[in-house]
Amino acid sequence: MPTTPADLLFTKAQGSLAGGVSASMRLHPYLGRPFYHVRGDGAYIYDLDDRRYIDYNVSNGATMIGHNHPAVRAAIGTGLDMGIIAAAETPYHDQLAATLAEIIPAIERVRYASTGTEVTMVAIRIARAATRRTKILKFDGHFHGLSEPFLFKRADPCAESDDVIPSSGGVTDTAAADVVMAPWNDLDAVDAAFERHPGKIAAIIAEPVWYNAGCILPAPGFLAGLRERATAHGSLLIFDEVLSGFRMALGGAQAHYGVTPDLTTLAKALANGMPLSVVAGRADLMDQLAPTGTVVHSGTYSGHLLSVLAAIATLEHLAEPGLYDRLNARAAQFYGDIQAIFDRHSFPARIQGLGTRFGLYMGIREPVRTLTDALGHDHELHRRFVLGCLARGVYFHGYTSSGAPGHAGFSTAHSEADFAHTLEAIEATVAEIGRA
Ligand SMILES: Cc1ncc(COP(=O)(O)O)c(C=O)c1O
Repeated sequence: MPTTPADLLFTKAQGSLAGGVSASMRLHPYLGRPFYHVRGDGAYIYDLDDRRYIDYNVSNGATMIGHNHPAVRAAIGTGLDMGIIAAAETPYHDQLAATLAEIIPAIERVRYASTGTEVTMVAIRIARAATRRTKILKFDGHFHGLSEPFLFKRADPCAESDDVIPSSGGVTDTAAADVVMAPWNDLDAVDAAFERHPGKIAAIIAEPVWYNAGCILPAPGFLAGLRERATAHGSLLIFDEVLSGFRMALGGAQAHYGVTPDLTTLAKALANGMPLSVVAGRADLMDQLAPTGTVVHSGTYSGHLLSVLAAIATLEHLAEPGLYDRLNARAAQFYGDIQAIFDRHSFPARIQGLGTRFGLYMGIREPVRTLTDALGHDHELHRRFVLGCLARGVYFHGYTSSGAPGHAGFSTAHSEADFAHTLEAIEATVAEIGRA
């Protein structure tokens, strides 16, 4: 019998929303229902009882400078005063594109959309049009949104073959013929994929930091190796920076690692929670888009003015000199403190992070470098950890109850007091689990 307001709402919502949620991943698997928000402010979210939690999901990584940020609110206010116009070009669209070209190495030209799914889909169309090839090399488990080519996984994650199976119902097998899959951090497998498909691969697409499996860094030289292989084989390199963008450097992972892709995609942190995404890159490639080229890209809400204004305000905040040095140092300290708590309590867990996003691996003590490593994640232990922290006012989202864990992160609004409270909550939770 449901007892809390949240349980009652979930029961009611199951009669109106499919599965009781507006998006599948909002069903928190460890709560058995969504976490219902009534508002967000700075580092905090508030539940139906107006109870405050320090937020370590921050809108799946979108709220990079904190909820309800005054500069973002003011920017949106400018858009409201302009009449909430959509499907419209304004000087702000050019202003934001010019800023992005200044700060992100790969960017010469920009197009906007609303979601990450749209821009990765457009990026591979540009690649196919530019190379006149059809196949896309992607890494098993990397998440690039919900369009057809990205909804496959390797039938046998340990085999070097092109046997892939859909990772979603309703996906047509015909799309599988154009998907070439390799394991992350394995250049030999990338070489083997190019050997199996000479002259056929239009692009390599990758999350340059694999945050969607927690936080799996590229092995030293791996991104540079991808760059070399793409160039040598006449393929394009696409960095999907929807999640890694702005996370550890203003120029994203490509600036952090000094490897420049041909095309890049951005979303999430770009507009601090407003829906905005970007596909961008070299001018000659972006010219494949109509009206200069033949690849269609449009959309009533593409580059919605309110989101473009929010992005301009967000980037102004993120461009503050010294911000990323401070954030990265704070992040490293925080992750080190969490690992020290785990180790002090002989709690079998590992944290891996870069910049403001991190992964918590439960039941794992060794470095996580591959999908196979991440699949050892203990969801039952994670569930107990997440619920213990929640009871102490700290929110970690749960994305899935099987496979690799999802990601967590913080915003520029998280204060020293928030980090200190979080460490106390984690220590108490870990001690409690140890006593059970
Ligand atoms: C790396 C990456 N690419 C693409 C997407 C899809 O973005 P959206 O959810 O806006 O469609 C995501 C979403 O989490 C992502 O993390």
